[in-house]
Amino acid sequence: MITLSAIKADVGGFVGHSAMHPDLEATAQEELERARQQGLLVDFHVTHCGDDLFLIMTHEHGENFEAVHRLAWDTFVKCTEVAKKLKLYGAGQDLLTDAFSGNIRGAGPGSAEMEIEERPSEPVIVFMGDKTSAGSFNLPLYKMFADPFTTPGLVIAESLHQGFSFEVQDVVEHKKITLNAPEEIYDLLIFLGAPSRYAVKRVFSRATGEIGACSSTDRLSLIAGRYVGKDDPVCLVRSQGNFPAVGEVLEPFSVPFIVEGWMRGSHHGPWMPVGLKDAHPTRFDGPPRVVALGFQLANGKLVGPRDMFDDPSYDHTRQKANEIADYLRWHGPFEPHRLPLDEMEYTTMPVIAKKLAKRWEPLD
Ligand code: F6R
Ligand code: MG
Ligand code: MG
Repeated sequence: MITLSAIKADVGGFVGHSAMHPDLEATAQEELERARQQGLLVDFHVTHCGDDLFLIMTHEHGENFEAVHRLAWDTFVKCTEVAKKLKLYGAGQDLLTDAFSGNIRGAGPGSAEMEIEERPSEPVIVFMGDKTSAGSFNLPLYKMFADPFTTPGLVIAESLHQGFSFEVQDVVEHKKITLNAPEEIYDLLIFLGAPSRYAVKRVFSRATGEIGACSSTDRLSLIAGRYVGKDDPVCLVRSQGNFPAVGEVLEPFSVPFIVEGWMRGSHHGPWMPVGLKDAHPTRFDGPPRVVALGFQLANGKLVGPRDMFDDPSYDHTRQKANEIADYLRWHGPFEPHRLPLDEMEYTTMPVIAKKLAKRWEPLD
């Protein structure tokens, strides 16, 4: 069995919150290379999307393995030291606890892990978001694994025809439910359509029970109790055979659907699919980006990556995203560009509400 672990954090931006300084990636590269030589990791790939550092790792130790989580934490701490020396912006911002206590979950960084029996050929897509939240993968995961207009394989391929089950987490009450597509899609969509509260954690093939996808559901604001930066989630998706084809997995991103995040983590904006060379959001700190790196696993080796959205067939999506961005920006500080009030709870809203509390008067 091979475990694919993607663990990510924003430990300092260059310049502002827009991108990653190469010294941080070089530091992470050194740390993970040492762990690979010592035998903890089979392979790894260090990369970034915007100001977030992503550690994509393979190993044989299963999910939630302390030494792997510790490696990620220690790597982020080392990178924070480098970020502090360079006075990069927001050095160490996602490291919310002072000391590592055995598991990266609840400590700030986002993580998605899946233990798999590697197939004779194992194509995997790693999606990385910036300037957006956990839950943003709900819509594309639904489309990939439950919508026959996106994935014709659900209709015409025997291996997919039994459908998929979705493990959905309630990120506020810390509980989960598993719902089956296609029979329960109306129940499923009640939850998935509210991604700030409910997030797809895992998707399973109902024909074989195999895991098909896993996403990070860690919400920084809920851990910290205030706004400390956006979650910028990661999602792992297996492809081909018993799973959607690569083109079916990527297809939901051909429309720049609206996600929460963007400037100050407090706005709705279009999610723009880009190649790595364009994963550096600057317009109003955005618009939010998503990168898709494709790998073939070979006995745990990460053969790749292929930069899947670095393709002219997404040019019109990017163009449309820019148009939507203009349109939403026009609304300035008004909803629905600005997030609804309950999401503002984690920003300056409580401070302002407290300051003005005494100035409210009863109606005549
Ligand atoms: C959004 C993001 C940025 C910052 C903004 C203000 O996820 O990271 O939009 O929120 O640049 O940053 P601070 O408050 O650090 O000055
Ligand atoms: Mg940042
Ligand atoms: Mg970020």
